[in-house]
Parts: sequence; structure tokens; C-alpha cells
Amino acid sequence: MFHGFLKAAGSKVAALSLVIFAAPLAAQDLQPLPFTKAQSIGGGANYQNLCAACHGAQLEGFAAPPLSGDTFGWLDRPASEYHAYLQATMPANAIGTLTDAQVSTIMAFMAEQNGMTPGDTPIPLTAAELEPFKFGQ
Ligand code: HEC
Repeated sequence: MFHGFLKAAGSKVAALSLVIFAAPLAAQDLQPLPFTKAQSIGGGANYQNLCAACHGAQLEGFAAPPLSGDTFGWLDRPASEYHAYLQATMPANAIGTLTDAQVSTIMAFMAEQNGMTPGDTPIPLTAAELEPFKFGQ
């Protein structure tokens, strides 16, 4: 009887810890962001044309917040959310003008500027395809 109680209590604890740990583990399971050097270069050209006037040529911030360094808010967050955010809000003076590919390649440029390393696998172009990834490596 007592033994049976312990067993039941034990499985409740196990079930509870699954509930507690499920959410944070899922966030950590996001994979490092892939992108190629060519994408970073292409995105850099668009960044200089469309973003640098407000965010600075080196992402250092100017009329708008820096896009690298301690105050930059998107490192290690879901890349799909970052893609959606950029497409919905930037450039602040021409919202809604960026294609999926423009957003992703600008993300590739910002990734390299934030210390991430390009490789052989291209960055996916749509927010939906970016779901497995974080904006970080
Ligand atoms: C006309 C000026 C302007 C242009 C051009 C512009 N931005 Fe912004 N951006 C802003 C302002 C202002 C904010 C701050 C908005 C806020 O805090 O709500 C911002 C915020 C951001 C943020 C959030 C920063 C953080 O730390 O959370 C990102 C990322 C960003 N912009 C990326 C871009 C990209 C990429 C482009 C080019 C495609 C771009 N912006 C073009 C003005 C601009």
C-alpha cells in the first residue's frame, strides 16, 4: 500500500517535471542560424541602401538603435520572429516594401556583423522556413 503510494507520487513528480521543463528546453532546441557569405554580402548592399541612414553603416546606431552590441534585443531569439518583425516594421520610412529574400539576406549580413560565421547552407527565405532556427549560433 505504502509502496504503491510512493510509486504513484514518484510518477506524478516525473510528470510535473516534464511540464516544467518542456517550454525552456524547446526554446534552447532552436538551431544555429545558417547563411552563406554570398547572402551576407548581398544583404549588406541592401542594408547600406535601406537601413544604414538610421542604424549606421556599422550597425552602431544613429537616428535609430544599434543593431549589434549589448543593447541589441534580438540575439538568440527565434529567427522566424525576427524575420516577421523586420518585414512588418522596417525600414521605418517604407514599411512593407521588403521581400522575403531581402529580409533574410539582410539578416545574414546582420548575423555576420554580430560575430556569426557563414557556411555552405543558405539562410531560408521565409519566416515559416526559419522556425527551427534562432538568430544566433
Ligand atoms: C527611417 C529610419 C529607419 C530606417 C530606414 C530603418 N529603421 Fe530600423 N528602427 C528605426 C527606429 C526608430 C527603431 C526603434 C523602434 C522602436 O524602438 O520601436 C528601429 C528599430 C529596429 C530594430 C529593433 C532593434 C532592437 O534592438 O530591438 C531592428 C532590428 C531594425 N530596426 C532593423 C532595421 C533594418 C534591417 C532596416 C533596413 C531594412 C531598418 N531597420 C531601417 C528606424 C529605422
